[in-house]
Amino acid sequence: MKLGVNIDHVAVLREARQVNDPDILQALYVACENGAQQITIHLREDRRHIQDIDVKNILMHSKLPVNLECSINKEILTIVSDLKPHRVTLVPEKREEVTTEGGLDVFKYEDEVAYAIEQLHDSLIPVSLFVDPSIEAMEQSKTLGAEMVELHTGSFSNLFNMLNSNLPYSNHSVKELELPRYELSQRLEESIEDIKSAATRAKKLGLEVAAGHGLNYNNVDEMMKILEITELNIGQSIIARSVFTGLADAVKEMKRLTIR
Ligand code: PXP
Repeated sequence: MKLGVNIDHVAVLREARQVNDPDILQALYVACENGAQQITIHLREDRRHIQDIDVKNILMHSKLPVNLECSINKEILTIVSDLKPHRVTLVPEKREEVTTEGGLDVFKYEDEVAYAIEQLHDSLIPVSLFVDPSIEAMEQSKTLGAEMVELHTGSFSNLFNMLNSNLPYSNHSVKELELPRYELSQRLEESIEDIKSAATRAKKLGLEVAAGHGLNYNNVDEMMKILEITELNIGQSIIARSVFTGLADAVKEMKRLTIR
């Protein structure tokens, strides 16, 4: 399994003070030396963490492929096309969100997504679409011309983390805890089934399959069981653990759990 480490949160901490500490390039080196096989960063329209200069520096210094996430906003796409990352993952973006909520709506925004893919392909950049795990979204992603999909694992992760909130480092949401356990378990099973069938369909369509969002040291094993998924992009849980263990150990441990 290819492990993509998302280092946006290192920049979140830095931006809290607007100084160069922690240094994003140091995070890149440590992740790279300890098992990351890809670096994932998100250049948001509001630049709340990663800045344009970070993308340039990371691309200049990274020994690993850089998976750059961005929205379908035309201005951002022009910047990203010029930056020439190894791959772009198109994600939905809302100013008011805390993190990416749900996958990109590849039906509502089909013209915009098709245009974005074309623009990125003109710059020879392969494209992945961050989508909810449904058969329809896989088929539409293929029709629109993407090479890859990243399945949004947010629902799965929330459900798993709520049901296992007793485990250490369980980053569960505190909002939905009122649901009865049997209902949570049933929903969790359904969410795993959705991911499995979407991954199977995507692979049959010739798409590469990644997954990400909310994955952590406890729930990642469920994704390891789905053989069609060949890449995981993980940020929050690794950076959160690194506060206690250091980034090197946090990445090493996630790599150990994601070896196939
Ligand atoms: N993949 C994509 C497309 C994302 O937008 C994010 C969050 O920025 C992640 C993976 C990583 O999610 P998390 O930080 O919850 O591990």
